[in-house]
Order: sequence, then C-alpha cells, then structure tokens
Amino acid sequence: MKEVGYARSGERGDFMKKAIYPGTFDPITNGHIDVIKRALKIFDGLVICVMINPNKKAMFSLEERMDMIKDSVRSLDSRVEISHFEGLLVDYAKKVGIYSVVRGLRALSDFEYEFQMALANRKLLPQMETVFLMTSEKYMYVTSSAVKEISMFGGDVSCFVPEPVSKRLRERYRNGH
Ligand code: PNS
Repeated sequence: MKEVGYARSGERGDFMKKAIYPGTFDPITNGHIDVIKRALKIFDGLVICVMINPNKKAMFSLEERMDMIKDSVRSLDSRVEISHFEGLLVDYAKKVGIYSVVRGLRALSDFEYEFQMALANRKLLPQMETVFLMTSEKYMYVTSSAVKEISMFGGDVSCFVPEPVSKRLRERYRNGH
C-alpha cells in the first residue's frame, strides 16, 4: 500500500491507468473491499479518496476513516493509494489527472442515486467516466449505516467489516458508549 502519490507512470515509465474510488467510508466495509479488489482487476492502480462533506456528520473523523482504510487494505495490493479531498469530485479528478471513477452497485435501489451522480459529474467534466462494479451478493445488504447501527446496539459486525474496523467499533461502544 502506498501513501498518496499522483505519479501516473509505472516503474518503466509506461502509462498506468488509474481510477478514483471516492466515498464517505464511515467506516469502510467488506462491500467496499470487494469493490476495491474488483477494480484492481481492471485498473493498474486505485486511489481511494475519502470525500469530506462539512454538511454530513460522520461518526469517525477523517483521520480515523483513513487509518481504518489503511489498516484494512494493507495486505491487499501495493497499487492502492489513499487520499482525501474536500470539494467536488470533478475538482479532485482534475487535480490528480485521473478521470475514471469506480463506484459499487449493490442493488437496483442504488442505481438512481449513482446514475444521477455519474451524469452530473460527466456534465461538469465531460471526460469523466464512471465505472460501476457489481458487489458480490454476499455484501448486497452491507452498508456503513447498518454497521454503525448494529454496533451501537451491541451487535457483532465482524462479518460485515474488516477486523481493524470491527476493533475500532468495539472500542467506541465499549461500556455502552
Ligand atoms: O460513500 P458515499 O457517501 O455514497 O459517497 C458519495 C460521494 C462522496 C462519492 C459523493 O457524495 C461525492 O462525490 N461528493 C463530493 C461532492 C460532489 O462532487 N458532489 C457532486 C456529485 S453529484
């Protein structure tokens, strides 16, 4: 796993096709990990970008979310980078010069929101392409919100999230807090 780096050439100086995987990741789930693994079959590199939205109250701070991602993808692949950005996704794409975006689709219910977002992004930045990857059916029902709610009421989320996330949630809610 690499820290943020925007080099677009490989070791031999050849062109690498990278994609951005943007999201709130509050927290990262096994569904996200599944999408990351699938994206790495298609792209040479993937930049996971934690998007900061001041109007959206996250449970975990930006640092915590990035740490959990780092710990969860550490063993995965050296082609994964982790970044963060406050603002429009298209502005981040322009900043890093990567115009392919990956998003996971779990069910039809995700489609309308995702389709709207992809079209809005394309309108704002015509060279932006969104690639939708179908999540494994194992993770169809796994959402960050469900994970937080299950944890809050003392449920076990270890089958929904990577171990570093499960550990942090246990710490957060230890003694009922
Ligand atoms: O994990 P999420 O919350 O479904 O991710 C949504 C996210 C962060 C990808 C989306 O809200 C986003 O791109 N936010 C950045 C602001 C932006 O570009 N908005 C215009 C898209 S319509």
